[in-house]
Amino acid sequence: MKRLLSGMQPTGSGRLHLGNYEGALKPWIALQGKYEMYCFIADWHALTTMAGSTDSIADQSREVALDYLSAGLDPSQVAIFRQSAVPQHAELAVLLGMLTPVSWLERVPTYKEKREHVERQEGGSDASVSFGLLGYPVLQAADILLYRAHVVPVGKDQAAHLELTREIARRFNHLYATDVFPEPQALIQEMTGTLPGLDADSEGKLRKMSKSYGNCIYMTDSEDDVAARLKGAFTTPTKMRKTDPGIPEGCSVCLLRKLYDADNYTTQWDECRSGERGCVQSKRETTEIVNAMLEPIRERRKLYSSDPAELDRLLKDGAERASAMAEATMQIVRETMKFL
Ligand code: ADP
Ligand code: TRP
Repeated sequence: MKRLLSGMQPTGSGRLHLGNYEGALKPWIALQGKYEMYCFIADWHALTTMAGSTDSIADQSREVALDYLSAGLDPSQVAIFRQSAVPQHAELAVLLGMLTPVSWLERVPTYKEKREHVERQEGGSDASVSFGLLGYPVLQAADILLYRAHVVPVGKDQAAHLELTREIARRFNHLYATDVFPEPQALIQEMTGTLPGLDADSEGKLRKMSKSYGNCIYMTDSEDDVAARLKGAFTTPTKMRKTDPGIPEGCSVCLLRKLYDADNYTTQWDECRSGERGCVQSKRETTEIVNAMLEPIRERRKLYSSDPAELDRLLKDGAERASAMAEATMQIVRETMKFL
């Protein structure tokens, strides 16, 4: 069986939203049984933005694990674990860092964006752009190559990191005349594209659902939470009354309806456009549809969160399975680099 690896950072509250579910978790779940799977929680990566506040990382990591499980990842088929529980990630990152030119890292778009963000916050100083932030893709390459993964399902924003991982793998294989590392393929999720959030930017355009915009429906939201969030959601600004014409393509509620009611949404869209249906009704109906979709996720979450010791056991078991693979790779790497 070919191997698959992917992961998410436990930043924010650690709770995942419908964008994470559609863009990442669902594709992973669809591949269960087809690959030997490793789905981890990138808690060391989270330090690139929260090195000074590590108190909450353990709890946030557990939240992510609970979201993985409640989405339907099956711990008997998938090793679910925290990156920090498998220290070989750090060992391989150190070694790979030695053969990665800084110029490759400075070109990475996510680094450039984050650096500009930090510089803005610091009033123009780049003093707090850490070595770890620049090295983020090296650690990510180590995450992937440690399991000699063949495929890595990720969102579009991760494409550059995957390309760099492939370059690092090629360089390692070339330098040591080996074929230890297969070049991992990115499986980019294009199907649903990016899930829009519940708000709009200053120009009235929808933007992606993201925890940093606070425009999310979370997988852990209760029925009432979903109702309240959709009540405040961005619709057609010029549709003040039911009879005003709506523009469903630019409305967060109509787009969610399309996603979760793919067979029947056209009536709602037509009636929104023609002024036969108002936003209040559309929001109420979409709330019911989203709540019905979340119901099995809530049930599984209740089950797993009722037994914290069981969650610990699952994470420990996942880390043991991951460690076996990680150590096997490191033995080969140490041997190849003459560090036995
Ligand atoms: P956030 O923007 O909320 O911080 P992350 O960047 O941590 O989310 O994303 C984790 C994973 O979820 C990535 O694979 C990313 O591509 C996917 N993802 C995040 N937001 C969305 C979205 N709105 N639609 C689809 N996929 C998303
Ligand atoms: N950088 C990824 C993100 O922000 C998280 C991540 C870390 C990852 N290591 C990985 C994803 C390895 C896939 C494979 O979403």
